[in-house]
Amino acid sequence: MKSSTTIFILFGIIVVLAAGLIGVLLYMNSRPAPTRGIPPLTAVDPLEPDSEQWGINFPNQYSSLKKTETNDERTAFGGSNPYSKLETDPRLVTLFAGYGFSKDYNEERGHLNSLIDVEATDRVGETTPGTCYSCKSADNPRLWNQMGMAEYDKTPFMELGAEIDHAIGCANCHDAESMALVVTNPALEEALRARGQDWTTFTRQEMRTVVCANCHVEYYFKGDGKYLTFPWEDGMAIEDIADYYADLQFNDWEHPQSGAPMIKMQHPEYELFTANSTHFNAGVACADCHMPYTRDGAAKYSTHDVKSPLLNAESACGQCHTDVAYVTNRVSTIQNQVNETMIATEEAILTAISTIAAAGLESGTDGQLLDEARWMHREAQLRWDFIAAENSMGFHNPEEALRILASATDLARQAAMKAVQAAGTPEVLPAETN
Ligand code: HEC
Ligand code: HEC
Ligand code: HEC
Ligand code: HEC
Repeated sequence: MKSSTTIFILFGIIVVLAAGLIGVLLYMNSRPAPTRGIPPLTAVDPLEPDSEQWGINFPNQYSSLKKTETNDERTAFGGSNPYSKLETDPRLVTLFAGYGFSKDYNEERGHLNSLIDVEATDRVGETTPGTCYSCKSADNPRLWNQMGMAEYDKTPFMELGAEIDHAIGCANCHDAESMALVVTNPALEEALRARGQDWTTFTRQEMRTVVCANCHVEYYFKGDGKYLTFPWEDGMAIEDIADYYADLQFNDWEHPQSGAPMIKMQHPEYELFTANSTHFNAGVACADCHMPYTRDGAAKYSTHDVKSPLLNAESACGQCHTDVAYVTNRVSTIQNQVNETMIATEEAILTAISTIAAAGLESGTDGQLLDEARWMHREAQLRWDFIAAENSMGFHNPEEALRILASATDLARQAAMKAVQAAGTPEVLPAETN
């Protein structure tokens, strides 16, 4: 055979093989992206508020979420039993005097009780804004989309209630089509943007924490429209948040005994955890401890039975720590220490309150100095409350919790001393400290 014929045949073979390869590549490219194993059994509408609909496709996630409705176990400082915090620690009745939390303040419980609990609390009434539903319902993403958040927040609680009949559910955390984790609360999106952050660029591990910040954060209702706002513009440390409220001259209520303009903290789990805690700095996410992987035969899924990890420590902590008994013991030690420190802070604030109240009754008390004492009462109590209202009794960030409580105690002592100075006599101090 002539060599030109050989080259021609070889060339032909190469063309045929290349065409075949291109064909295979084109075929693979045009196939749908791989889904999570099983194709969806049912199409779920975008923003569908009813978790049962999503549950048809994802029965394990749905049935584990359902467990949050009936969980009722108590732990030393947490758990799902809605015991009264006021009965456990009667100091709170004085600390929150003049405010709803002095009448009704229960330990929080599982996600599926969110609606029942917000509608049952004595803290809501005729004047309550709709904003109070913001972290309670899977109807929110749909309503925010339809009405816009400003309209939603302006609608009275009682009126908005007609639109809301699903507790927290899939739509609060997932996109229905891709099942990706999403930020659904416009207030979170705005707060992140104000800090130069765009959640759509976050990694999967970051989303496993930030999705909880849709709700587990400090917030307030801004202006007459009660616009839901996270006070993060100056930073997320308690000092930044205190400065933010001070600049705004914002207060939630006036304390009837001390006359101080007060701030109530909500549940700043996200802020405390992300303030350089050991776990956060090590890249651990909220979902690692609160939604550990669980097995159902061959299937592995994230449990959606979100609760105290002390109730399932083997799966919650055991994935990273070999000695689970040791680390749960550490939780107990940390929580007891934070609790003792916290009670000492409460005592110091109670002393400040009664000293300021007594100074206010003296004739000839210096009004300006007394106002300074009132301001210190406010600053002490909002710091204490940042740790008290946070739900882990300091575990999420022990160093930061103890640092904040120490500064709160210091401010409370200064408040009492300032009141003494204002009155010009130590007799305004309560008897036992006199
Ligand atoms: C390293 C594990 C870990 C991580 C990460 C973690 N938590 Fe926790 N969390 C705990 C433990 C332990 C408790 C204490 C439970 C108790 O006292 O029963 C707790 C308590 C709580 C509670 C109160 C539970 C109860 O039973 O009352 C809430 C709410 C909570 N965490 C939310 C969060 C959020 C939101 C994040 C992320 C911002 C987060 N946690 C990150 C371990 C963790
Ligand atoms: C849509 C708002 C919302 C989102 C999102 C949310 N939570 Fe909650 N969470 C709540 C509310 C409200 C409660 C209290 C419900 C009650 O007491 O009725 C709660 C309660 C809890 C509790 C206490 C459960 C118990 O049994 O005591 C834990 C723990 C918790 N959440 C962790 C998380 C974690 C971790 C994430 C993120 C993966 C998260 N939450 C996301 C609103 C939310
Ligand atoms: C409080 C927020 C929250 C709610 C409510 C929620 N999820 Fe999830 N879900 C998560 C987190 C966090 C993960 C872990 C995602 C990851 O690792 O990327 C997850 C993971 C998943 C996954 C991926 C597989 C797995 O198990 O890790 C599916 C599917 C899922 N959820 C379905 C649902 C369904 C269905 C509902 C409602 C019945 C629901 N989720 C409600 C937060 C939530
Ligand atoms: C995803 C992995 C992960 C999970 C889940 C996890 N941890 Fe950790 N934990 C770590 C890492 C990483 C460190 C830091 C280790 C170090 O620096 O030595 C740590 C440190 C600790 C420490 C020592 C902190 C200190 O400041 O000395 C305690 C206590 C602890 N974890 C308790 C727990 C408990 C309790 C749970 C379950 C509720 C838990 N961890 C779940 C990864 C994890």
